[in-house]
Amino acid sequence: MTAEYKVLGDIAVITMTNPPVNGLGFSTRIGITDGLSKAIDDPAVKAIVITGAGKAFSGGADIKEFGTPKALQEPNLLSVILALEASTKPIVAAIHSVCMGGGLELSLGCHYRVAAPGTNVALPEVKLGLIPGAGGTQRLPRVLGVETALNMIVSGEPVKSELLASLPGQKLFDKLAGSAESLFDEAVEFAKSVAGKTGEALPLVRNLPCKHPQGDAYFQFARNMVGGMSKNYPAPLKCVDAVQAATKMKFDDGMAEERRIFTALMFTPESIALRHLFMAERAASHIPDVPGDTPQRAVKSVGVIGAGTMGGGISMNFLNAGIPVTILETKQEALDRGVATIKKNYEAQVKKGKLKQDKYEQRMALLKTTLSYDDLKDVDLVIEAVFEELGVKEKVFTELDRVIKPGAILASNTSTLDVDKIAAFTKRPQDVVGMHFFSPANVMKLLEVVRGKQTAKDVLATVMGIAKKIKKTAVVSGVCDGFIGNRMIEQYSRQAGFLLDEGATPQQVDKAIEKFGFAMGPFRMGDLAGNDIGWAIRKRRATEIADMKYSRTADKLCELGRFGQKTGAGWYDYKPGKRDAIPSDLVNKMIEDHRKELGITPRKISDEEIVQRLVYSLVNEGAHILEDGIASKSGDIDMVYLTGYGFPIWRGGPMHYASQVGLYNVAESMKRFAKNPHDDAKFWQPAGLIQKLVAEGKSFS
Ligand code: NAI
Repeated sequence: MTAEYKVLGDIAVITMTNPPVNGLGFSTRIGITDGLSKAIDDPAVKAIVITGAGKAFSGGADIKEFGTPKALQEPNLLSVILALEASTKPIVAAIHSVCMGGGLELSLGCHYRVAAPGTNVALPEVKLGLIPGAGGTQRLPRVLGVETALNMIVSGEPVKSELLASLPGQKLFDKLAGSAESLFDEAVEFAKSVAGKTGEALPLVRNLPCKHPQGDAYFQFARNMVGGMSKNYPAPLKCVDAVQAATKMKFDDGMAEERRIFTALMFTPESIALRHLFMAERAASHIPDVPGDTPQRAVKSVGVIGAGTMGGGISMNFLNAGIPVTILETKQEALDRGVATIKKNYEAQVKKGKLKQDKYEQRMALLKTTLSYDDLKDVDLVIEAVFEELGVKEKVFTELDRVIKPGAILASNTSTLDVDKIAAFTKRPQDVVGMHFFSPANVMKLLEVVRGKQTAKDVLATVMGIAKKIKKTAVVSGVCDGFIGNRMIEQYSRQAGFLLDEGATPQQVDKAIEKFGFAMGPFRMGDLAGNDIGWAIRKRRATEIADMKYSRTADKLCELGRFGQKTGAGWYDYKPGKRDAIPSDLVNKMIEDHRKELGITPRKISDEEIVQRLVYSLVNEGAHILEDGIASKSGDIDMVYLTGYGFPIWRGGPMHYASQVGLYNVAESMKRFAKNPHDDAKFWQPAGLIQKLVAEGKSFS
């Protein structure tokens, strides 16, 4: 059991002991009811305090039980709450640190609540595409009023206990403790003050009235607001329905309505995707052969080589986390330019009120610049972000190897070069790793951690730890061309090109995939990032990709100097200073002419085919990436696409999406595309892994 029971004088104390956040798993639930029975049976006990050990009162459901039958095993959370309500002796919840989801619902089943200041209080279920399922939608409005409760339920955001305690008329907290340290003693004192009360004298949240003065008109207004903000997600509007039920129905009927809505949401693709994302994000930090307790190297200071686009953004991540950074460049002008950009970025944040002036100054004070490697000799981690040329990288890593102290981690931000080759420039390949940030590096969540053949396990563990500190989602990738993300996007781009050759326009392709939910279609994306980047890579790899079939349209576009927004023209036209993509007659004519050269008669391509070819190309390459051991699990690939490539969150990533469509269906579509003479038949052979899973009736998950 993960709850303890003890008696202090005439007060029984039940303490949840399920680290890290006292999740309400089976062993905690049974511990609570066990303690409750003992307390009720002991005539010496006059009142009960329930609290949580360590860093939380309770963070809610135990994620290990998520979606498993164990979550429903008796006593389930609803039964525990009923048992608390039915207690003949007063129960006081002593709430501190974190009181969320099921934890808050549990406390609402208690007769009284005493909270420590600084407690984060929330019902975050909506973030998993659900509504609170253990009475939260029925009880919270009764103690906080309909509007405050609905705001919390719809947003899922935490609110501080002292703020809630200050709301006029609130009945959530009976007392706000003086401090977190004194909470327990104050809760016991409070319990003594109500000891001996029983029966009708014990207040229950369920008996409180629940009304909004404007009645249904308010809910209509709320629906308009919430509906506008949550178009791809059904749960927020369902929160409104459930809270409205609390105002219209008897308590028990409202509870039944909440349960009905909760259960229906559990099976929506959106909630399934959001729960997959939640689990995949946590799983991404676990590397199969690197145990969680692998010792990490201390990283107290960082060196960054190169103050360009990436070097500046990378530096900001560490400055934001309070870690000193020294940037090295070859010329003073480059340093000055880099620092000016960092300043400009921070100043924009200050202007928008997102960053306080003193914080900005603190961050800038952590930044040093240098032209000499000697100033880096004591740093714990160096990240190289110089030009993407192996010769330049060789110079830098040879120099780093000579100067930097032993045991420091040497990382490269290369996006296309072989990390093993880079490691071989040093005599310490075990200390070399790829840290592939995405642009803008201070904004994008994704960090691909590229594991070289010889990268030491403690280096990986350290980099994963550092990623958490700088608030990145880190995913481990093996060494291959493009790593996980760009290796897959190459196939996606190839399909986009074939679609043009066969009869689609850039705007049709973009519209179709944007309707599917991508933040931006491939052509608008190309114009934003610069079409010349891919062009340069294709030219550099010309011999490697000589026998790979791909559309020449992108090269032709670049030959016209249409690199995208930065040249005022790309796949689309742009008005000076504007970012709106305007369909270009010139480009569409270029595509038509190219089609004629290829002897292709254009055909009408459906949006469905466009989406399938783009998304399934990611899926097939993703499956090869799993086969090759470049990614260790399909959830990692999903994380890469959700956090780095704008894949629609509510679809859960390409691999999850394919599993939901059914791998049999996906494989059948691939076989159909393989028969298209203008596409790449070899590519569309379903990956061995997909064929195996189909044969076994399984999915990626
Ligand atoms: P950039 O051209 O903006 O910056 C490179 C900087 O490195 C320049 O300021 C240059 O003066 C400096 N530099 C060149 N040689 C140097 C040397 N020997 N010692 C010290 N500094 C030197 O390039 P960007 O875009 O920042 O790219 C840097 C690296 O990051 C490349 O490996 C690139 O592939 C990678 N990358 C770029 C992404 C992007 O979207 N721009 C995304 C992810 C990775």
